[in-house]
Amino acid sequence: KIPYIMDFDTGTDDAIALICALLNQDTLDIKAITTVAGCVELDKTSTNTLNIVDYLGFDIPVALGAEGPLKKELFVAISHGPSGLGNVIVPPAKRGFYDKDAADTIYHFAKECAGDLHLLACGPLTNLALALLRYPDMNTLIKRITIMGGALVGGNMTQASEFNIWVDPDAAKIVFDAGIPLTMVGLDVTLKTEMPKSVFEKIAVTDNPFAELSTRIIDFMINRNQLSAVSLYGSVELDPAYMHDALAMAALVRPDLITTKKYNIAVELDGENTRGMTVADFNNVMNREPNIDAAVEVDVEGFWEWMLELMANGPGR
Ligand code: BDR
Ligand code: CA
Repeated sequence: KIPYIMDFDTGTDDAIALICALLNQDTLDIKAITTVAGCVELDKTSTNTLNIVDYLGFDIPVALGAEGPLKKELFVAISHGPSGLGNVIVPPAKRGFYDKDAADTIYHFAKECAGDLHLLACGPLTNLALALLRYPDMNTLIKRITIMGGALVGGNMTQASEFNIWVDPDAAKIVFDAGIPLTMVGLDVTLKTEMPKSVFEKIAVTDNPFAELSTRIIDFMINRNQLSAVSLYGSVELDPAYMHDALAMAALVRPDLITTKKYNIAVELDGENTRGMTVADFNNVMNREPNIDAAVEVDVEGFWEWMLELMANGPGR
């Protein structure tokens, strides 16, 4: 089994990624889950994460991470609703958080796994950056980081910047430049994962707690533009049910679902209008070493089949 730490800013689509991760215990050894502020504030992303893990019957440690970006003010997304899980209520966990913070947790398990630890990050990269800043040997201890974040083209905050990078570009730069093998599952690819109604309907009739919780969350995502809790925010058009984070999760166990290309990618910190942009050197004109395996395509039908099979098999795997 591959040892993992997973970092979430849970968040509706983070929650689906987390549920899929919990359904993959046959191949993933999840040492800990760390939380970060992003989709909503840290107390909410953390409570959502712990409640989901506990509700689905797992005792994986959940460690509290950064309350905000390294240098910027925290900006939270509105599309996940005030709690981060839309109108979905998960029963409160009967246990507490891990006794180390996220950065210390990452380092602790990185040491314990002696170079074999993999990381999945589905939110702003603040915790990973803090671990790298705090521990000088950290970058030698991680086998690979897979992130949902950035884009080879476009953005969802500005035309140039994707949410997870835009929230904490300083952290993203530290992580991208750390010399750790990094797979970037970017927005231009995850935007192809709007869940079709036919897939949702199959999950909705699947009878186990994983599929049942997923159904409630995805139902909110599909209908969030019509729900009063969110229409508080006025006339902003909210995202449909994109499975951004679940695609990055899928790439861990089914790398064949995405096609990647290796580029040098730099995180823009100084651009007057392009802060948080992930700038890929497509033609190698900057003469820098390629440092990122960036997703360029997804087998979206294969992704839905993968998710449906996971949900159907449930915890009995
Ligand atoms: C990313 O931003 C968050 O809202 C989602 O959870 C995802 O990680 C997409 O840009
Ligand atoms: Ca996320």
